[in-house]
Amino acid sequence: MKAYELDKFGIENLRIVDAAMPEPGDDEVLVKVHSASLNYRDLMVVNGQYNPRMKLPVVPLSDAAGEVTAVGKNVVSRRVGERVMPLFVQKWFDGRLDVPASRSSLGGDARSNGVLREYAAFNERSVVSIPEYLSFAEAATLPCTALTAWNALVESGKLQKGETVLTLGTGGVSIFAVQIAKLFGARVIATSSSDAKIEKLKALGADETINYRSTPDWEQKVLEWTGGQGVDHVVEVGGAGTIEKSVASVRMGGEIAMIGALSGGASVDTVPIFMRAISLNGIFVGSKAMFERMLKEFTRAELRPVIDREFSFDEAPEALRYMQKGEHFGKIVINYERH
Ligand SMILES: NC(=O)c1ccc[n+]([C@@H]2O[C@H](COP(=O)([O-])OP(=O)(O)OC[C@H]3O[C@@H](n4cnc5c(N)ncnc54)[C@H](OP(=O)(O)O)[C@@H]3O)[C@@H](O)[C@H]2O)c1
Repeated sequence: MKAYELDKFGIENLRIVDAAMPEPGDDEVLVKVHSASLNYRDLMVVNGQYNPRMKLPVVPLSDAAGEVTAVGKNVVSRRVGERVMPLFVQKWFDGRLDVPASRSSLGGDARSNGVLREYAAFNERSVVSIPEYLSFAEAATLPCTALTAWNALVESGKLQKGETVLTLGTGGVSIFAVQIAKLFGARVIATSSSDAKIEKLKALGADETINYRSTPDWEQKVLEWTGGQGVDHVVEVGGAGTIEKSVASVRMGGEIAMIGALSGGASVDTVPIFMRAISLNGIFVGSKAMFERMLKEFTRAELRPVIDREFSFDEAPEALRYMQKGEHFGKIVINYERH
């Protein structure tokens, strides 16, 4: 089978190799991958920013959708032909995250190779079923960013109808956050650096939009639109460079879901965090139980992921370069059909 291996950091070092066909272990299912999707983390892994001491070679990427083609002798919950997605955190099934689970994410180190290969074996418990209404390409967008947005707003954030949600930028996590917030009847204030993307945000249902480039004091606009109170939830993907503005944008007793670090560093004044009783909730994707609750809700609403662009398996390096440019709105997908 074909697989992409990274033996040195850098997109230019990503190579297709002939790899041994994986054999499913007794408790495993063998999955033929049909589609994968990119997360910002994949770019960091490939460029050596995620873990500069990562042992190489590694097969990158975590998010995929495919079909079970063989099962191990102990497998009871899965059959050949079923459409499945692997969990991003392979060993987080329910309850709180623990150390072994936190070390089981796909495509982030040499111990658990990722999905940029034609076949991969997973424990039968470490996959979930693809809802019928979704294509492989659509399903491949869900395991990381959709679940992260769901966990941030619904599981951890306990989002209620009528609350206000602030999203930053128009990457995978933020677009799912807009969609989930609208599904729950929330009011959305969304930011982007691009006026063209702002038009797309409006079409997706964002109630208020701000260009954070042309309006660098965007927290003032957020306060204006919330009667000086601030929003109930912030989906914080910017990190050090945006956190102070996020703190200024949230209401007293509000919640900031700490997810990403897309922006540059800065020091943070921690006093307003306790003086205004703000909750900072660290989010690490989500568990299998959360994923299944999300899929139930997505299926009920027939929520469709926003796919910006699709590439072929051979074009995977181009897909990563495209992500690096930051022009995408939503998800970038790689389709494997080349046989
Ligand atoms: N904690 C977790 O479990 C978890 C899970 C998934 C992702 N993440 C993290 O969350 C972040 C987003 O991931 P992703 O996959 O959604 O990324 P992505 O799809 O690559 O998002 C890129 C977009 O983010 C926006 N952006 C960049 N810098 C920004 C800034 N300073 N302020 C506001 N928006 C900015 C831009 O939107 P515009 O072009 O519209 O400006 C850009 O197009 C990353 O840091 C990732 O590592 C964490």
